[in-house]
Amino acid sequence: MKRTQSERLFLKAREYFPGGVNSPVRAFRSVGGTPVFMVRGKGPYVWDADGNHYLDFCCSWGPLISGHAPDFVVEEVKKRVENGSTFGTPTIEENQLAELILSNHRYIEKIRFVSSGTEAVMSALRLARGFTGRSKILKFEGCYHGHVDALLVKAGSGLVTFGQSTSAGITNCIAQDTIVVPLNSDDALRQAFELYGKEIAAAIIEPVPANNALLIQRKEYLQLLRKLCSANGALLIFDEVISGFRVGFEGAAGYYDIHPDLVTYGKVIGGGFPVGAYAGKREIMDQVSPLGPVYQAGTLSGNPVAMIAGYTQLKHCLSPGFYQKLEEKTRYFSEALNDINPEQFNVSFMGSIFWLNFSSEKNIASPDKIKSDGVEKFNRAYHRLLEHGIYFGPSAYEVGFISEAHELEHLDFAISVFKKIIPEILK
Ligand SMILES: Cc1ncc(COP(=O)(O)O)c(C=O)c1O
Repeated sequence: MKRTQSERLFLKAREYFPGGVNSPVRAFRSVGGTPVFMVRGKGPYVWDADGNHYLDFCCSWGPLISGHAPDFVVEEVKKRVENGSTFGTPTIEENQLAELILSNHRYIEKIRFVSSGTEAVMSALRLARGFTGRSKILKFEGCYHGHVDALLVKAGSGLVTFGQSTSAGITNCIAQDTIVVPLNSDDALRQAFELYGKEIAAAIIEPVPANNALLIQRKEYLQLLRKLCSANGALLIFDEVISGFRVGFEGAAGYYDIHPDLVTYGKVIGGGFPVGAYAGKREIMDQVSPLGPVYQAGTLSGNPVAMIAGYTQLKHCLSPGFYQKLEEKTRYFSEALNDINPEQFNVSFMGSIFWLNFSSEKNIASPDKIKSDGVEKFNRAYHRLLEHGIYFGPSAYEVGFISEAHELEHLDFAISVFKKIIPEILK
């Protein structure tokens, strides 16, 4: 497989952008080699600048729940663009998307649209601090919430620690307002609330942590978190940028039947366009400007093209059996891969999210349980998969996604490739 055009384009891109990319993981630093420049996507496939095509399990990191360029979204977007793409005024499309979401979701009452998951999280934290009058945020090691200053922190040594910044440019005082605890530890959670409970504005968690492998949590653990937040007057924020509208229309809140105070969204909500949102209880959301004192705004927030794409996609997600079919396909795919060599290779999955784990460990719920030698195996497998026309996100810690466009024949093709290459990689 030749990728000379991608190589040529990447050389150019390196002159223009830091590391040649506009978002770091795209640079292939983790797996090595040159990123693939994509020029077209349709259904489950993407095509690169050299004319190669790939079965795509990255799905643009999650948004494309119906695959690439589904006709029903494309048609509505075209119609909308022809009549103007942005006005800086309220539009019908915002109302439509909000009504669709709020009338089909039992865990949120009001919503505000923004343009990315990061923006949603950043705004939700400000709102939580404004609402409670407190400053500290509790986060979990192994959860990612976008490039929000306060959350680009890792744990120090100890069960409950103040954050140590993981990026240059973040001041100590910002990092020091973030408390970090390990996932899946009831003791750490209890201890954090005992020590700082009355200072915590909000605890933020990916209820389905899917940014550092897939670290499925116990329902009882999430319930404990809910209980401790309520008992201490702290808000519970579910960051559902990945899980929202993905593990069911009501996301993880619905899946676990746990009522967060605020929820953040991104990815699927925009139907392939840049949309984020934060939503929650009415009395909390009413603290946002212009009604309340917590300021937040955006020139392109609620952009009508993005809104109609999101509306059309989410309406489609509500068709009977939509999520059930996705789950069945994901189970079929993951279980077939799990049969190959369960002693050394395991696939964990939930909804239509899955993770390739090159180790014997099953049901991993915290990042310290991930074996680092799996990374090297993943990296070798990654390039073999590419050569066979299968595209994954270029990092061992990233999850894959099954879309509506992945039919059984596509999954069977991928399974046959895995059956060929996994024994070679594990030899
Ligand atoms: C759980 C979670 N929160 C927030 C974000 C940030 O979203 P965005 O990349 O749209 O800013 C991501 C991105 O992957 C995410 O997975």
